[in-house]
Amino acid sequence: MIIMSVETSCDETAVAITRDGREILADEIFSQVDMHAIYGGVVPEIASRNHIEVISRLADSAISKAGIKKAEIDAVAVTYAPGLIGALLVGLNFAKSAAFALNKPLIPVHHIRGHIAANYLAYPELEPPFLALVASGGHTLIIDVEDYTHMKVLGSTRDDAAGECFDKVARVLGLGYPGGKPIDILSKSGDSTKYPLPRAKVDDHPLDFSFSGLKTAVFNIVNTITQKGEELDKASLAASFSAAVSDSIVSRVMEAVQITGHKKIVCAGGVLANSLIRAELTAACAKEVKALYLAPLSLCGDNAAMIGSHGYYEFKAGNLAGADLNAFATMEVDNIF
Ligand code: KG4
Ligand code: ZN
Repeated sequence: MIIMSVETSCDETAVAITRDGREILADEIFSQVDMHAIYGGVVPEIASRNHIEVISRLADSAISKAGIKKAEIDAVAVTYAPGLIGALLVGLNFAKSAAFALNKPLIPVHHIRGHIAANYLAYPELEPPFLALVASGGHTLIIDVEDYTHMKVLGSTRDDAAGECFDKVARVLGLGYPGGKPIDILSKSGDSTKYPLPRAKVDDHPLDFSFSGLKTAVFNIVNTITQKGEELDKASLAASFSAAVSDSIVSRVMEAVQITGHKKIVCAGGVLANSLIRAELTAACAKEVKALYLAPLSLCGDNAAMIGSHGYYEFKAGNLAGADLNAFATMEVDNIF
C-alpha cells in the first residue's frame, strides 16, 4: 500500500511517499529554521505562510522522486494534532484536497505516534509491544505501546519539554535557535561536573519529568556570573546542563523498565539526536534491556515519512477521517478520538 503523507505541525514542511508503513520511497523536507532563527523561536504565522508556499512543490517532488504516478497513491495521511494550529491547518487542508482529488481515503495521524513510527522505517523487525520514549520540542513522554494504535502514557513533563529547555538554555548562552544541536556540540569540550545542577523528581509520580527548575538554575548561574563580571565557561555549563537532562531522561526510562517489565525500548523525537542521551541510554540498557531502538538521526526530527509509517497502521486499524477532520493544537497520544 502506497501512502502520501503530509507533516506541517511546526516549522518543517514535509511530504513523503512510503510503502506498507516500512519503506521510504521519497521523503521531502523543507526546513524553515533559518526564517525563525532571527526571532529566537518559531513564529506561528510565518510558519503557516511558508507551509502554504512550498507544500505543493514538495508533493510534486516527492511523487517524482518516488517514481510513482499520482494514481498509484492508495491513501493520504496527515498530521492533524498536536502542533501550531495555523501550521497544521495548511497541511490538513492540502491532504484533504489531495485525498478528494485522488478519491482515496484520508488517514489522521497524531504527531507523537508518528515520531514513534520513525523506528518502524529503520528497523524492519520492530513490532509492538514496547516501551517508548519520545522527547521533542513540545513533548517529553514515556509511553507503553501495547500495539500499533493502542498506547498508554506512563509519564510526561509537568512543565517544559526537554527540547524546549535545550532551546531556552541555548538562547541565554547565545547559541541561537534551535538550541539542541549547538549545546550538544559545545558540551563535548566542557566539564559536566563544573556546575552542579538539579535533577528534579515529581513526588509520587516517578515517571513524570520537570525541567523548569533546571532551566531556572542555568539562568541563575549565567546571571550571577555575568553580574560579578566573571568569565562564564559556556562549554562546561552546556555539558553540565546536558548531563542533567540526560540523567533525568535515562533514570525515568530505567524506572519504567522496572515498573513495566518491558525488555524492548524505542526512542524517538528531535532530542534523541543528542549524542550524550543516546550514549547514556545505550549504556544503561546494556544489562537489563534486550533491545534498544534509537531512531536514526535522519528520522529523529520532524519528517513526513514517519507520518506515512504510522498512517499505514491507523489505516489497518480502520481509523480513517472524513472531509470534516479538524486540526487540534493539543491532543493526548493515548486518547486520540
Ligand atoms: O521532534 P522535533 O524535530 O520537533 C518537535 O516535534 O518539537 O524536535 C525539535 C527539538 C528542538 O527543541 C531541538 O533543539 C531539539 O529537538 N534537538 C536536540 C538536538 N537536535 C535537535 N536536542 C538535544 N540535542 C540535539 N542534538
Ligand atoms: Zn516532532
